[in-house]
Amino acid sequence: MKIDVLPVFGKQTDSQLQDTTVIVVDVLRATTSIISALNGGAVKVVPSVDAGDAVALASRLGMSECVLGGERGGVKIPGFELGNSPKDYLSRTVRGKTVIVSTTNGTGALYSVRSADSVLLGSMINRTAAAKAAACNGNDILIVCAGTEGQPSADDLCTAGAVIDAVRNFADIRDGELSDMAIICESLYHSWREGRFDLSKTFHFARLCAMGFEDDVAFCFTPDTTDTVPTYKDGVIVRYE
Ligand code: MLT
Repeated sequence: MKIDVLPVFGKQTDSQLQDTTVIVVDVLRATTSIISALNGGAVKVVPSVDAGDAVALASRLGMSECVLGGERGGVKIPGFELGNSPKDYLSRTVRGKTVIVSTTNGTGALYSVRSADSVLLGSMINRTAAAKAAACNGNDILIVCAGTEGQPSADDLCTAGAVIDAVRNFADIRDGELSDMAIICESLYHSWREGRFDLSKTFHFARLCAMGFEDDVAFCFTPDTTDTVPTYKDGVIVRYE
């Protein structure tokens, strides 16, 4: 089983998406919030790259059936009910609803892999469950990181490494099957786990903390708190069964 990591979405080719299980990672915070929405009882999550399209979809479906969530630059989109704090999506607000989310990078990353055969959402909170689902699929794995505004983000790379580390519990990975980027990510994750790499100095992590989202960051970086694995198909995110 080959495993590769794209540090930032958008550079993948169509052939990389065929016969491959894609895992989209935006640990701070989109994929963590979407997992939380499903855990909070949302019927489904619809990612929308454009905030205006999200509002139009909510009007079409009926505002009482939907919850609008999302951020730009970390800040809640004006008029939306929720921002992008994962704990907000665990609340009663989303129960029985369709959650429509639009975020700066994460929803773009999802849209960019819409033609893939199989797309899962990964984060630190579901790293082992996501790894198990992908390994059991048997296909090669491509982890696509959202990054931050077109740049690689250490938080996503570390999480990609955490998923790869967990895949080893479910599949044999032979020499030569990890790309160089996959090896770098796994090594970064081990350094972080062993306290030798400090994420708090990295750009997106530090920016969210400076904005007062320390609790979100701590929540997002607590490994294996849930078995929920979302899957994205035909524009909609539901639980992977
Ligand atoms: C994104 O999609 O860019 C992020 O999830 C930003 C954030 O931390 O809210």
